[in-house]
Order: sequence, then structure tokens, then C-alpha cells
Amino acid sequence: MSRNVAVVGAGIVGLSIAWRLMRDGVEVTVLDGGEPGAWQVAAGMLAPGGESAFEHPALGRLLERSAQRWPSFAEALGVEVGYDDSGTLSVAMTADDVAEAARVWTRQKLPLLRPSELREREPALSPRVRTGVFAPGERQVDPRRVVAALREQLSTHIVTKKVDKVEEVGAETVVVAAGCGTAAVTGLPVRPVKGQILRLRGEPGLIRHILRATVDGRHVYIVPRADGEIVIGATQEERTDHAVTAGGVHELLRAALELVPDLAECTLAETSVGHRPGTPDNAPLLGRLDDDGRVIVAAGHHRNGVLLAPITADLIAGLVAGAEDPMLTDFSPRRF
Ligand code: GLY
Repeated sequence: MSRNVAVVGAGIVGLSIAWRLMRDGVEVTVLDGGEPGAWQVAAGMLAPGGESAFEHPALGRLLERSAQRWPSFAEALGVEVGYDDSGTLSVAMTADDVAEAARVWTRQKLPLLRPSELREREPALSPRVRTGVFAPGERQVDPRRVVAALREQLSTHIVTKKVDKVEEVGAETVVVAAGCGTAAVTGLPVRPVKGQILRLRGEPGLIRHILRATVDGRHVYIVPRADGEIVIGATQEERTDHAVTAGGVHELLRAALELVPDLAECTLAETSVGHRPGTPDNAPLLGRLDDDGRVIVAAGHHRNGVLLAPITADLIAGLVAGAEDPMLTDFSPRRF
């Protein structure tokens, strides 16, 4: 059992690990380099089926198990973090959109709803929506509130320090949870995957569920918060720049307004860009990096950093305590 741990990275994954270690009685310090994390713009969907990983069964199981941990994780934070279990309506517009979405719906084993049933659940939906499914297990949390709560709990454990190389850190155990920055710190293959995302402000209650849709071949999700914030996301681009582009905003707004025409009345409150930390197989890197076990990695969560934070914290805290969960086998950082 290591009693002295440094966590490199103060995003939702690094902070969740540090919080878990702190509660286990470990002497933990978070090194916050101030880099922007994907959590800052993330919508916070907890969507093990919608963000599906059918081609990677072990990742699918990891997503499901972390989703199960979210209710108790949110409750343990002790403040309101926007955990909402109203569920997700996943819908499609054209016949081609239905054909594409049906591949996911069939695997989720969810019954198809008629347009009238969909609009009964979600009156603001466009009459053009052909069909869809209700996924009660696809939930949300507000990542900005979660990170604020974690920072508050860890306030005496966070220091401002930029780490260039893992060798610089003198702690008994070092956990690198630096998102896209993990590549520079460790040399591991983590690449930035750009996402542009919008925030609108409207009447609370305009939209009742998370909406996920294929609209004329374009993918969009709409995440309504209780306070009237509506998050619309997100582009997925293999780019490293931070530009909000006219094309990106247009693509998202066009799809969202086709889906829910009343969104046209909302205020456009924020346009932003984040970078998801992707890996060659887009599954996370979780485990020991070196033979002596001093350096542990928890990075590369790609589209699922928020969803995977609770299980990542538990698995990494287990490793620090000397227990290697068999679930880690498929996510070794040494697999590439
Ligand atoms: N998890 C949603 C996204 O990455 O856009």
C-alpha cells in the first residue's frame, strides 16, 4: 500500500481518483498544470449504450459498471451536481437515419416508439421525427458542478504545478491522469479529438429528456438542464486547434433546430471547443506503466471521461492499495 501519491492532472478523472484516495486515508496531492480539460465543455451524458462500444465488449462492460456507480458517487459528493435520471430519447428523422440508428437500438434491445408516443413524452419534438426509443438508463450529470464539488473537497490537496515529464515527480506512487497531456508526460499514444459544443439558454422544461438523434445523416445530442441550460453537441474532428468554426456551429444548430424547432427562440449563450483524449483503440489506458509499479496511468477516456470517472477512481485506488482488478487486463497502458 502506497501512502504517498501524486496525481498529475486536475480534470474529472484525476480529481475523482484523488478524492477516492483521500477517503481511503492515502496522503494524496493533485498537481494541477492548468491545462483545459475535456470536462470543461462536456455535456455530461452518462450513456453506456448510446456512446456504445459494441465492437469492444470489455469497454462496454466498463461503461455499464461505471454508470451503475454514478448514483452513489453523486450522492457522496454531498452537493447538487445535476445528476438526472429522466433518461434519453434516441430518435431518427429520415428512412436512412432510421436504418443507421436501428443498428444501435437493436443491440440495446429497446422497443421502437411511434411518432405519437415520442411526442407524448417530448412534446417539443418536430413532427418530422419518424421513430425512436426511450433509454431509461442513459442519464446525465453536470461536469462543471462535479469538478467544482471535487475541488472543494480536495481544496487542501491541490497544488499548481505543471509537470513536463513523469520522472520529475518525487512521490512514492505517481498517477498520470492528464487527459491529452498524458502523451507529453509519458510518451503514450493519446491524441486530441476536437469537439465543438454549444450552450443555449431557454425556458426550463422546454425539453424533458436528453435527446440523441440522427438528422439527415448528422449526429447530434441535446442535453437539457433543470436551470434552462441546453447543451448541444458535438462535432468530432481529428484536429488540435481551438477554433469555433461557422461550419461547426451551423452543423450543430441545423440538426438541433430540425429536431426541436422551438430551440430557435433560445439565447445562444456559449460556443466552445474541447479535446477528447483518444487512444489507438479509443479505449482508456488504465494500469501500471512500469515494472516496479511506481507510475500508474488513467487516461485516454475519449468520449466517456465523465461516465468512467467513478470506476476509474475505484480501479486505480485498488491498484495503489496493491489489488489488481481483472477488469484492468484489457486496458493496460502497455498494450500498444
Ligand atoms: N460524450 C460525448 C462527446 O464526446 O461528445
